[in-house]
Amino acid sequence: MSAIRAAYLERTRSSAGLYKKATNLMPGGTSRQASYWAPYPLTIKRGAGPHFWDLDGHEYLDLINNYTAMVHGHAYPPIVEATRKQISDGTGWAAANEPQNRLAELIVDRVPAIEQVRFTNSGSEAGVLAFTIARIVTGRSKLLMARWGYHGSALEFGVGFFGKEGPLTHLATYNDPADFVTVLGEHGDDIAAVFLEPVLGASGIICGEPDFLHEARAAAHKVGALFVLDEVLTLRFAVGGCQGAIGIEPDLTMLGKIIGGGFPVGAVGGRAELLQIFNPSDMKIFHTGTFNGNPVTMVAGEVSLRELTAKRIEQMDQLRGLLQAGLGRAANKHGLPLSINHYGSCLNLYFSEAVPQSSSVREDGELIEKFHLACMNHGLFIAPRGMIALSTVITEKDIAGAVERADMAMCDVAAEMGNNNVRKG
Ligand SMILES: Cc1ncc(COP(=O)(O)O)c(C=O)c1O
Repeated sequence: MSAIRAAYLERTRSSAGLYKKATNLMPGGTSRQASYWAPYPLTIKRGAGPHFWDLDGHEYLDLINNYTAMVHGHAYPPIVEATRKQISDGTGWAAANEPQNRLAELIVDRVPAIEQVRFTNSGSEAGVLAFTIARIVTGRSKLLMARWGYHGSALEFGVGFFGKEGPLTHLATYNDPADFVTVLGEHGDDIAAVFLEPVLGASGIICGEPDFLHEARAAAHKVGALFVLDEVLTLRFAVGGCQGAIGIEPDLTMLGKIIGGGFPVGAVGGRAELLQIFNPSDMKIFHTGTFNGNPVTMVAGEVSLRELTAKRIEQMDQLRGLLQAGLGRAANKHGLPLSINHYGSCLNLYFSEAVPQSSSVREDGELIEKFHLACMNHGLFIAPRGMIALSTVITEKDIAGAVERADMAMCDVAAEMGNNNVRKG
């Protein structure tokens, strides 16, 4: 057996035991594909700031922060204080609440194209809702999105079709405006909306060219489709999201993750005229949800957004640069090929000479799997696919610690691979 895997099994016995039990209770022992990895995921007991601890008592530096949602790290004191107060005042009722107004106002003030907002309980739900709006407004039934784009775990977005068109999806190549124009030319009559991420997140932090996003928007409008920008992940990159940074005005914007301050959330924002279909006094579609706009999520989201200032975004970006440079040095030292995609506070690692051209094809499957487990063994928590997202509470000292831990993990990987896959010369 691989020494890295053996070490993982040895140090995570309590997680293994809990996972075994979980497999009897939930399919594959989990409710979330993204928090599973082989042979079994760690069970985390508690978190504080940039750290968390597993069931066996090991400490980890968290470099993924629940896939970008925990932008202020774990148990962020201002969020703990605000939510504790709200919980003691009650957690939900079938009537209005004040925090919902405050979070909506913050979002409308920050994000240029959002005049009104509608809350949901996940980014996936926000996507489905945005698609529903587009279908009702246009009377059409399909959407166009980027191949390997991710807009949530829903059939509507081709989830499970792995890069092939789903029953409701047409696909085109990201950063290729001509391909979007072609598909819209062929299927424009069917397409209710074009959905795009400003940066492909799940597919490896691939930046959208501003010209591409502008051209895709224009092409959507030319055939009478809506343009939906998915800022579920990218709102952390600038105070007004990527749309503010690159000056693009979507019809609808999907939000999630950081606007819930660590609690389940999603939202669709956009032009007031489009969102009027939900207005109870002139309703075109019935939409409700027991926990939509619940006060606990709303106060947490309010603190999360208010405290995500331009200065803190800039600091995270700088620390990401330091981390990236340190990881590059460590890989060089151990003779491992490493290439990195990055944007703002996020990056994605590939143990190959160049980043893959298509996110479907990764040459470094074995290396990234070993590196991920080796990182776990050295107390560095990253996504199995090599994604990293920093938080505002991480310090320069933490970054130096992260590089040391990654260095040890790379040492283990290089030793285990012998000369195979290790850079020549
Ligand atoms: C760009 C993007 N859209 C939508 C979603 C779905 O959000 P959720 O996981 O809250 O359903 C995600 C989640 O990772 C995302 O990154």
